[in-house]
Amino acid sequence: MARAPGDRLRVLTCGSVDDGKSTLMGRLMHDLGAVPDDVAAAATGPDGALDFASLVDGLMAEKEQGITIDVAHRYLSTPGRDFHLIDAPGHEQYTRNMVTGASQADVALVLIDAVRGMTAQTRRHALIAALTRVPTVVFVVTKMDAMGWDPERFEELVQDALAFASALELKAVQVVPVSGLTGENVARPAAAAWVERATLLDRLEAAPVASATGGPFRMPVQWVRRDGVDRAYAGKVASGRIRAGDLLRVQPSGRTAAALQVVGSNGVVEAGEAGLTCSVVLDRPVDVARGDVLVAADAPLETADQFEVDLVWMGDDPLLPGRVYDLKIGARTVPAQVTEIRRRVSVEDLVPLAAKTLELNDVGVCNLSLGAEIAFAPYAEDRTLGGFILIDRASLNTVGAGMIRFALRRAHNVHRQALTVDAAARAAAKGQKPTVLWFTGLSGAGKSTIADAVERRLHDMGRHTYLIDGDNLRHGLTRDLGFTDADRVENIRRAAEAARLMADAGLIVLVSLISPFASERRMARELMGEGRFLEVFVDVPLAVAEARDVKGLYRKARAGQLANFTGLDSPYERPEAPELHLRADAETPEEAADRVVAALRERGRLQA
Ligand code: ADX
Repeated sequence: MARAPGDRLRVLTCGSVDDGKSTLMGRLMHDLGAVPDDVAAAATGPDGALDFASLVDGLMAEKEQGITIDVAHRYLSTPGRDFHLIDAPGHEQYTRNMVTGASQADVALVLIDAVRGMTAQTRRHALIAALTRVPTVVFVVTKMDAMGWDPERFEELVQDALAFASALELKAVQVVPVSGLTGENVARPAAAAWVERATLLDRLEAAPVASATGGPFRMPVQWVRRDGVDRAYAGKVASGRIRAGDLLRVQPSGRTAAALQVVGSNGVVEAGEAGLTCSVVLDRPVDVARGDVLVAADAPLETADQFEVDLVWMGDDPLLPGRVYDLKIGARTVPAQVTEIRRRVSVEDLVPLAAKTLELNDVGVCNLSLGAEIAFAPYAEDRTLGGFILIDRASLNTVGAGMIRFALRRAHNVHRQALTVDAAARAAAKGQKPTVLWFTGLSGAGKSTIADAVERRLHDMGRHTYLIDGDNLRHGLTRDLGFTDADRVENIRRAAEAARLMADAGLIVLVSLISPFASERRMARELMGEGRFLEVFVDVPLAVAEARDVKGLYRKARAGQLANFTGLDSPYERPEAPELHLRADAETPEEAADRVVAALRERGRLQA
C-alpha cells in the first residue's frame, strides 16, 4: 500500500540481546505476520519451536553496523500503520547509531530487563532519547515471565524509570511490561489480571507521527544543478512546503528570490513538502551554494557562529577543546572548535561534573565556535537544522553528535572592527611579506637553536622578526597549561593566534614548539593561509634527542618523574609534507639555518 512518508512511525529500539531485545523484536514481527515462511523455517529448532531471537538475525541479515532500517521497514508493517524499525544495539560502540537513529525517531523503546533492572546502559539510552527529543519514550520491561509477572517487581521498575524520566524532563513517558518469549502484552494481552489493557502494539499504533509539514518552509541545499540557463537547487525539505511563486530567502546571505518552479522526482510538481526531495528553480540569479538553506522569506532562521550545545562524544580519542573538527549541519560543513566544556553529565545520576575533555560515550554541554556563520534553529524546534555531527578531519570518522541549544549572545554582539590601517598596509610599511616559519620536532631536536640562528640572519638583513618559543611562552601567555593532549592543543592554538597577530603586524614570525599533533599544525597553517606558512620539520631520531638531553628531561621521564613526555609516553605525529625537512643530526644548526633562509628566498618571501 502506498503511503505518504508522514504515515510511517519510526521506532527506535534501545537495548541489548541481554535485555531480551531480539526475542521481543522477533516476537513482534512474528505476531504481526511480518515474517516470511523461509525465515521462520530457518529459525525453527528440531523440536518445532520457533527461536525468536534467531528469527531477528534472519530478518536483519542485511544489518550494517547494527542499523536495520530497510529490512525492518520491509517486514514490519500492519494494515493500520507502517512501522520503520531502527535498531540501536546496546553495546557502547553503537552510541553513534543510537544517536543517529534517535534523531529521526517518533518513538523510542528503552528496554529494561525485569530481572536485572535499570542499568547504566538503560540510563544512557534514556538520556540520549531525551537529548534527541524523541517525542514518545516507552520503557519496555522485558522478561516479565522470568519474574512470574510479579506486580511488585514491575511497580518497583516503574518507579525507577519514572524517577529517571522526570530528572530528564521527559514528557509522554510510558512503562509497559512484556514477555517476548510468551508474547504476552506484545501484540496480545497478558494473562495476569493486573496488567493494564494496552499492549505494546496498541501503544505503537497510538503514538503520534512527528510531522514537519506544518512549520515554515526550510530546505538545506544539497546540490546545485545548472540546466542550461536555469539553476536548480535541490535538497530534502526539512519542514513546511513550497509552491511556485513563494518568496524565498537564501541563508546565511539573506538574499531573496521567488520560486519559479518546483521539481519532484517525476517532474514539475505543484508543491514540495517536508520529507520529500525536490529542486527549486529561482526567478532571478542569486548566489546559492551547497550548504545554504532556502527558507520562506518571511520566516528566516537565526544565523550565528557561536553556540551552546549538547554533545554526545563517540570518538575513540577524547574530545580536545581547541582542536578543529568539521561540523556538519543540514548540508553545510564548517570548521568548528569546542571553546569550553561547560559540564559533563553523569549518566548514572545526571549530576553535572567539571570536565576538561569528553571521552567515548560521554555526554556534555559545550560552547562551540565555528569558522563561519550558519543558518540554524535550536534543536528543540527543528531536529534537522539544529542537529549536527562532528567529524575528525584526519580519520574522517564521526566523533560527536550534537544538538544546538542556542546561539551565544556574543555571537551577535561581538563584531569585527574594520580598521583603516590593515595587514597589507603594515606589511608595506615594513617592506615585508609577513610569513610564519613553524618549527616542529621532538624536545631536544634543536628547533630553538636553529630558529634562533635563522632569526639572527634575518635580523642582520634588516628584517623585522619575532621568535615565539614554546619554553618562553609557557612562562607567560600559556603558563596555565601543562602537557596533557588537551593542554598542548590549547598551547598551540594560542601560539598560532599570537603568530597570526604578529604576522598581521607585518613581521616574519618564527614559532618553535614541539607541536606534536598534525591537526593543530594544520590549524596554524589554515589560520595563516597557504603560501604564508612554512612548516619546518626539525627531525632527529628519538635516540639522538634523548642522548643529548640538554635539559635532563628525558632522564627524568625515563625515571618516571615526568609524565606525558613527547616521544616516550605522549605521541609525536611526524609531518607528512613539511615545506622543509631538516635532518638536525646530519647538518649543523648553521647549515640548517642557511637552508631555511634559502627556502624563504626561493619562495619570494624575502622580497618587499
Ligand atoms: S607542545 O607540545 O605544547 O608544543 P612546547 O613546545 O610548548 O610543547 O613545550 C615543550 C618544552 O617543554 C620542551 O622543550 C621541554 O623543555 C618542556 N617539557 C616539560 N614537560 C614536557 C613534556 N611532558 N613533554 C614535552 N616537553 C616537556
